[in-house]
Amino acid sequence: MDPIKVGIIGFGYWGPNLTRNFYELPTSNLVVVADMSEDRLKAVQARYPHLIIKQDYKELFALGLDAVVVATPPATHYPIAKDCLEHNLNVLVEKPLTLKSEQAEELIKLADERKLTLMVGHTFEYNSAVHALKKYIDEGVLGQIYYLDCARLNLGLFQRDSNVLWDLAPHDISILLYLLGKHPISVSAQGTPCVFAGIHDVAYINLMFPDNISAHIHVSWLDPCKVRRITVVGSKKMVVYNDIENETKIKIYDKGVDPPPQDTNGFGEFHFNYRAGDITIPSIRFIEPLRQECQHFIDCIVNHTEPCSCGRDGLEVVKILEAAQHSIMNGQAQEVIKW
Ligand SMILES: NC(=O)c1ccc[n+]([C@@H]2O[C@H](COP(=O)([O-])OP(=O)(O)OC[C@H]3O[C@@H](n4cnc5c(N)ncnc54)[C@H](O)[C@@H]3O)[C@@H](O)[C@H]2O)c1
Repeated sequence: MDPIKVGIIGFGYWGPNLTRNFYELPTSNLVVVADMSEDRLKAVQARYPHLIIKQDYKELFALGLDAVVVATPPATHYPIAKDCLEHNLNVLVEKPLTLKSEQAEELIKLADERKLTLMVGHTFEYNSAVHALKKYIDEGVLGQIYYLDCARLNLGLFQRDSNVLWDLAPHDISILLYLLGKHPISVSAQGTPCVFAGIHDVAYINLMFPDNISAHIHVSWLDPCKVRRITVVGSKKMVVYNDIENETKIKIYDKGVDPPPQDTNGFGEFHFNYRAGDITIPSIRFIEPLRQECQHFIDCIVNHTEPCSCGRDGLEVVKILEAAQHSIMNGQAQEVIKW
């Protein structure tokens, strides 16, 4: 079978990573990169002299492509993805899929009607450390899950058309949905625009899932330290996934607390039983998650299968972001999400 003919739209910060992967994959034939910035197109030409470059992405429609990748700012995802689907192209859209749930619903409907692949770039769903985390949860290694805590902090990169919630939280929300395989019941969030009026650069999101599982996400563009950490606390064990580490991304702590036995007469001693056992560091075979994601997109097109991070997953993340944004604007109100 001939390699899938791909075009990339957007060659800013993230587009070059997608370009490198689709360029190197033997199953894809990267033909063209479009970017409205002449400087960015010069950068494409310097690195990939034989690729076609276009300033107007609409010129891609005459090139006989099978698929496009949309790596432009979030506000442009919906119009560009819609245009591409209407030109019968399979589409991989960067996160967040859209800025409104109705827009995501429209893209899903369009892709379904035309039997096209619509995938969203939830990169962490293709990360082997996240896969390992899910295995520990699903196999009961951690026991009953009590809560999850996510921190994604750094200094920058500030955006003009999006806040930290829409920029960084899609990663953690998509990870939580993937790990737990459940929808949250409610969301509340708090955020502050510290540096630029109206653009929240720090946010705290609380999600309540079924079975009394809570999840907490802290995202910030304004923190002195780079942090990419998820802690999962269960009744048997606890896990810390630190994405910044190379060799020790996952640490399983045999730590926990057992409550005192039920005191029937009220005079018994009130002793908690603390466990502090070994720390296990599993060996995880790490393949670049973005490479896996790009290959998966091609496989889904070829085999007509639904992507792991399909349009509906993108919609779920957008719905949660909308509810969190609403909560921030309404003084941390509790938002119940309708699924
Ligand atoms: N999956 C990940 O881990 C990850 C990481 C970073 C960014 N992203 C996502 O990738 C997307 C792009 O982010 P970025 O940081 O690269 O942004 P960026 O602003 O650095 O780059 C966007 C590029 O798109 C171009 N562009 C804008 N509108 C266009 C249009 N109509 N036609 C053609 N080109 C256009 C701009 O000129 C720019 O070069 C965002 O959705 C972001 O959330 C994903």
